[in-house]
Amino acid sequence: MQDFVFHVPTKFIFGRNTEGQAGAEIRAFGGKTVLLHYGGGSIKKSGLYERVVASLKEAGLSFVELAGVKPNPRLSLVREGIDLCRRAQVDFILAVGGGSVIDSAKAIAMGVPYEGDVWDFFTTGKKPARALKLGVVLTIPAAGSESSAGCVITNEDGWYKLAGGGPATRSSFSILNPELTYTLPAYQTAAGIVDMYAHIVERYFSNTQGTFVIDRMAEGVWKTLLWAGPKVLKEPENYDYRAEIMWAGTVAHNDTVGVGRESDWASHNIEHELSGIYDITHGAGLAVIIPAWMRYVYKHDVPRFVRYAVNVYGVENDANDPEKTALEGIARTEQFFHSLGMPIRLSEMGIGEDRFMEMANKAYRYPHGYVGNFVKLSVQDVYNIYQLAR
Ligand code: NZQ
Ligand code: ZN
Repeated sequence: MQDFVFHVPTKFIFGRNTEGQAGAEIRAFGGKTVLLHYGGGSIKKSGLYERVVASLKEAGLSFVELAGVKPNPRLSLVREGIDLCRRAQVDFILAVGGGSVIDSAKAIAMGVPYEGDVWDFFTTGKKPARALKLGVVLTIPAAGSESSAGCVITNEDGWYKLAGGGPATRSSFSILNPELTYTLPAYQTAAGIVDMYAHIVERYFSNTQGTFVIDRMAEGVWKTLLWAGPKVLKEPENYDYRAEIMWAGTVAHNDTVGVGRESDWASHNIEHELSGIYDITHGAGLAVIIPAWMRYVYKHDVPRFVRYAVNVYGVENDANDPEKTALEGIARTEQFFHSLGMPIRLSEMGIGEDRFMEMANKAYRYPHGYVGNFVKLSVQDVYNIYQLAR
């Protein structure tokens, strides 16, 4: 296990009706003037908007609003938000929504005190020294942005979808009420489950040895998804299943199962090109890329893929043919995604081969000179993975 510092200062408030505490929490964290940031209208349809506004008013907070965050959130709206916050002297941002709204809020939060162009944080790897404080009311468990340190923004000028941020952008508090997720369309619920599944893949397939405790925890979260995922799709208003999925999404991406080892992130970088260019749902893109990536790299560490197949899917280990066991684990992964209603081939999403090389080159532009860590991928490797996902 590698040395590590684990510092996740976010206060989690989990349970029914907890959104009513948003105003009081903002006050407790020192906020006075709030930017209420949200997406395309689901929070108005569900009545959540009124409850959050009532909570802000009850706490005596003044606020301005910025709606219209799109999935795969855009840089232009971030810039609008920075401008609005400066004009209205906002000192706290409340993100009400999913990963896209939270990521947009984080980018605004780091852009406000920064004198340069906020896009710098996405192209240079530079971490912001300061950011406005922010809080979250989560409406979709998926991206894990409610407790992660990063955000992902799409620049419409070239459709670059890049990650940025740092510890300064972690939310001060995150309100997680599973009931708020009852209204999710099945497709979004399923894509969210695949995204959290993928966040563990990115951490579990590592070259770092001696990670028994986090491996077992990771396998436990995966098994929870295998158990609760199909159930929640059948019973979308079952509180217990929604609650399991919601907390799984948070721990999958706040490094609880990632500390002490090098993580990978190849599949995410490869997928971000797809959602950046084709505007598809991130989790659906991952459902296609993760099995393709696994098939491409499994020979690098067959025993680890065997452990995955045995411990997560209960595949019987064929001691004479470990590769067969490893491949069975990958096939089961693909079957699980498919059983949730996710695509498992790019063609199912209408994506052809014509831009594979362009995307491979764009994915490769990440600062290190390769993509991923478990296996360091070249442009040609990334292209080959798109081909496998065809
Ligand atoms: O915009 P509204 O109307 O709210 O509709 C949203 C949106 O269309 C809808 N929705 C959300 N909650 C709902 C609901 N509909 C009905 N009832 C509810 N309770 O769902 C749609 C998707 O929302 P979005 O926020 O885009 O989903 P998600 O949480 O999956 O976020 C995806 C974004 O997060 C990024 C992804 O790349 C993508 O851009 N990621 C962010 C990460 C991070 N910051 O740490 C890590 C992830 O790996 C990921 O890359
Ligand atoms: Zn993700």
